[in-house]
Amino acid sequence: MTEQPAAPTSTGDAVVPPGSPGLENLLTEERRFPPSPEFAAQANATPDAYAWANADRPGFWADQARELVSWSTPFTQTLDWSDAPFVRWFADGRLNAAYNAVDRHVEAGHGDRVALHFEGEGGDTRTLTYADLQREVSKAANAFAALGVGTGDRVAIYLPLIPEAVITMLACARIGAPHSVVFGGFSAEALSSRILDAEATLVVTADGGFRRGKPSALKPAVDEALAKGAPSVSHVMVVRRTGQPVDWTDGRDVWWHEAVDAASATHAPVDVEAEHPLFILYTSGTTGKPKGIFHTTGGYLTQAAYTHLNVFDLKPETDVYWCTADVGWITGHTYVVYGPLLNGATQVIYEGTPDTPHRGRWWEIVQKYGVTILYTAPTAIRTCMKWGAEIPEQFDLSSLRVLGSVGEPINPEAWMWYRRVIGGDRTPIVDTWWQTETGAIMISPLPGVTETKPGSAQVPLPGIAADVVDDDAQPVPNGGGGYLVLTEPWPSMLRGIWGDPDRYKDTYWSRFRNIYFAGDGAKKDDDGDIWLLGRVDDVMNVSGHRLSTTEIESALVSHPWVAEAAVVGATDETTGQAVVAFVILRGDVAEGHAADAATVQETLRTHVAKEIGPIAKPRQILVVAELPKTRSGKIMRRLLRDVAEHRQVGDATTLADSSVMDLIAQGLATPAAASQD
Ligand code: WT7
Repeated sequence: MTEQPAAPTSTGDAVVPPGSPGLENLLTEERRFPPSPEFAAQANATPDAYAWANADRPGFWADQARELVSWSTPFTQTLDWSDAPFVRWFADGRLNAAYNAVDRHVEAGHGDRVALHFEGEGGDTRTLTYADLQREVSKAANAFAALGVGTGDRVAIYLPLIPEAVITMLACARIGAPHSVVFGGFSAEALSSRILDAEATLVVTADGGFRRGKPSALKPAVDEALAKGAPSVSHVMVVRRTGQPVDWTDGRDVWWHEAVDAASATHAPVDVEAEHPLFILYTSGTTGKPKGIFHTTGGYLTQAAYTHLNVFDLKPETDVYWCTADVGWITGHTYVVYGPLLNGATQVIYEGTPDTPHRGRWWEIVQKYGVTILYTAPTAIRTCMKWGAEIPEQFDLSSLRVLGSVGEPINPEAWMWYRRVIGGDRTPIVDTWWQTETGAIMISPLPGVTETKPGSAQVPLPGIAADVVDDDAQPVPNGGGGYLVLTEPWPSMLRGIWGDPDRYKDTYWSRFRNIYFAGDGAKKDDDGDIWLLGRVDDVMNVSGHRLSTTEIESALVSHPWVAEAAVVGATDETTGQAVVAFVILRGDVAEGHAADAATVQETLRTHVAKEIGPIAKPRQILVVAELPKTRSGKIMRRLLRDVAEHRQVGDATTLADSSVMDLIAQGLATPAAASQD
């Protein structure tokens, strides 16, 4: 199935993606923040990198690959784009990702440096040095190998954010077994489809994790997923985290503390080719089926290390870095695991939520560890804004020197608040645009180099070619808007969709010829700087997480009460977008439950949580009698979005039956339909 974007609406020369009202005003933003001379003087990044990279893009990346990554067999070939859109970087080189992330730092005499400061939600802590990590990763690699996991086999990981998550990913990399991390908030159903698609042989999980002060079970979801049938899985390894009781399948289930603790602490990392798959990570597309984005080793590691070093200005000896993402997302892969560890950083990982046990928890952690670099999402910043500046103001945040933002466009007010309240008006802010598919940061200011603008990701990094184009792939002039594209291959580019090369070509490379279509709308300002405007396809962005409208619609119609469903992402002050669903109930059900919309809401929200995961739960479910459709039967989500955002409904002349919108608007006003959490 192809994934062509819905045509965005046009205002003059600007393409305005649906769901981004107000962002149009961004270009009137005139505040500028030049780097301070003190910061610039010590910055890793230098202005000449752009010209250097422009002069010879592959050569620039080859230099980074040699400098930042250790190769067991050095590469002689840099870029092979002859089979576009399938790319190969550094293809004749060989290396191991775990060796690069861990062992070489120990060999260089940094074994005593802290790699991970782990902070559990309940306040329990663990500190792992690089030497500790080398030992733990080696043991886990030996234990996995003893269970029959070999190079090339896939391992599914379903864990809370505890050190074992990082250790497991690195242990997989050490034996050349691609990992497929499934976010712990995903349902058994979602886990099952990912295990099946990747044909994982081992699943690594925990009894549970801590969420909002309570143990939250994980193992039952694995049992349920495997009960649906998973012929490839031979073992489940279980970390004891919460101590809650678990069902046990003898012969299949293995305790981590038995298998790993008993394993040998020496393990020789397996050399793999640069293009050996390092991991698969599933992400939502515009169709119901998640895409298994896969990344390979050499190019991915190169760009992960380069961007982490330059975008965050990392000084491994002195910085304490903290990225708040879970390893279930790409941000956690590249900027919790591979980027920081490749660069020998000391970092914090925190299991819990920002408000457990109190709303100052994050700032308490910054103060406690002296965090210098913080990387988080706009939704978190807006939540803290809502809680009030007086909370962070109770803590000493003076250690912070670089702040990062990722996941969705950051509105200028949140940017300013972040800089002023968290950064004490002194820290550079880097708004980093990238995707699961790009593997690493693509567009971002460079601290110490770029004069920043609140709300803009601004410039492609050295070695990256991005542009904003119109429907005919022509670059728009400054001041114009269109689609964000990437015009040259980059090292950490996705290598494909697992098992589905056609979908890879269709999704990213068919909209424009030999140009990567990102799915985002963007504008160029008068300086040519890039402002991201949100998705132009049926993908929503809720709290920086990608959700597919189609996937949630499928989940809704899989419930026996639902005849038809349409889902839109409505602008939400805190989460960026929120899921709003319109459902038509089956006749018999509609009769029986007409008086009890609250039950319908709750039942369907729970059902979506069960099918996909709590993150996909609609904020609001509206029961309607009709959905607005074109004469050809396509649901007009644009109109539903107007309703969901309480706007005057737009042009409805192409509707098969335009009275439908009146019915929906009236339905909105009835108390039964408007209830929500
Ligand atoms: C989509 C990718 C990359 C890690 C987190 C999300 C949106 C991401 C920004 C930003 C504006 C952004 C885009 C993109 N996005 N960062 N700085 N400014 N939009 O990864 O789940 O693959 O989602 O997130 O829409 O396409 P993902």
